[in-house]
Amino acid sequence: MKVAYFDYPRRFGADAALVKQLVAEVGTSGAFILKQHVAELEAAIKGQTGAAHAVAVSNGTDALLIALASLGVGPGVDVLTPAFSFISTASAPALLRARPVFVDVNPDTGTIAADELARRRTPESKVVIAAHLFSSLAAMAEIQAAARALGLRVLEDSAVALGARTAGVPAGLAGDVGLYSFFPAKPLGGIGDAGMIVSNDAALGDMCRRLRNHGQDGVTRFLHHHLGWNHRMDEIVAAYLTAKLARLPALHARRRAIGEHYDAELGKLGPAIRPLASAPGERVFYTYVIRAERRDALRAHLFERGVETQLYYTVPLHLQPCFAHLGHVAGDFPGAETLAREALALPLYAEMTDAEAEYVVSAVRSFHA
Ligand SMILES: Cc1ncc(COP(=O)(O)O)c(C=O)c1O
Repeated sequence: MKVAYFDYPRRFGADAALVKQLVAEVGTSGAFILKQHVAELEAAIKGQTGAAHAVAVSNGTDALLIALASLGVGPGVDVLTPAFSFISTASAPALLRARPVFVDVNPDTGTIAADELARRRTPESKVVIAAHLFSSLAAMAEIQAAARALGLRVLEDSAVALGARTAGVPAGLAGDVGLYSFFPAKPLGGIGDAGMIVSNDAALGDMCRRLRNHGQDGVTRFLHHHLGWNHRMDEIVAAYLTAKLARLPALHARRRAIGEHYDAELGKLGPAIRPLASAPGERVFYTYVIRAERRDALRAHLFERGVETQLYYTVPLHLQPCFAHLGHVAGDFPGAETLAREALALPLYAEMTDAEAEYVVSAVRSFHA
């Protein structure tokens, strides 16, 4: 049997008629950017999450940039951020000319621990980015409490966690500002790039709305209150996402069934092979990652049996060439370095069959045997 890691034709094929109709409708409407479909998607996300403010943007990375700028991040400011994550959590502060100050992750979860914040905080630290990673939730209540005690504001990077909850709070709303990515691979994946910023803080919501569209206030055109960007969302992607949002609970339920099955079966194999754990909460199963001591040999073993896998992320952020100027060396963040060596992502998407999921489990098990 062959199990693809990304199976986009299967994931998007069911929407062929919808996409055709939207291209014909929106593509000839003359209303292409930040119009009715974007407003509808923002309203739908507010309805689903309870957020007071939702600001549609061009992608999750731009959401991070705008959210950080709205929190006052710029030159001379330090931003605490995980040493192991997608590049944007570190590049966004750096692109704003702030300094990313890395915080190690727990190698069992891939997320930062609240008690690390006091150790890593610098006098210039203003913001902490707490990221949910893969299918693991960060312990937001603890992080928020520690950050408040230290006078830090919290950006919750919930790019991968729309629909999850920690301590009963929807992912995205546990800090000062949060965000979602609609990159095609995400559970709510679009037909192109897109993202959303959410907040219950009116001042932040308003500032993000301005910054995504050249600092304009949405009332007077070509009056620029701030230096902003063109980080807007296209109507065609918004229309598709609003339609797909109705299916998100069913997509999540199917992902959860597969993820919990992996957890139960692969959880028996440890300690040399073990699923990443999560802080308590209602998880969303996005990328499914295990730790494997002999990761590369396991990957080859799975490949021989037709199971495609992916590596996220083989170079931790503190050792990336683009951050060489920060002066870090191997050994600085052992949790991040362990995951860079051991993390292996298995196929998981709602369209997988039970037989495929079972095949993945048995292929992993046969390596261990
Ligand atoms: C944790 C995290 N933050 C931010 C992003 C950036 O999102 P985008 O790809 O939409 O720019 C990603 C993308 O995978 C992510 O995994």
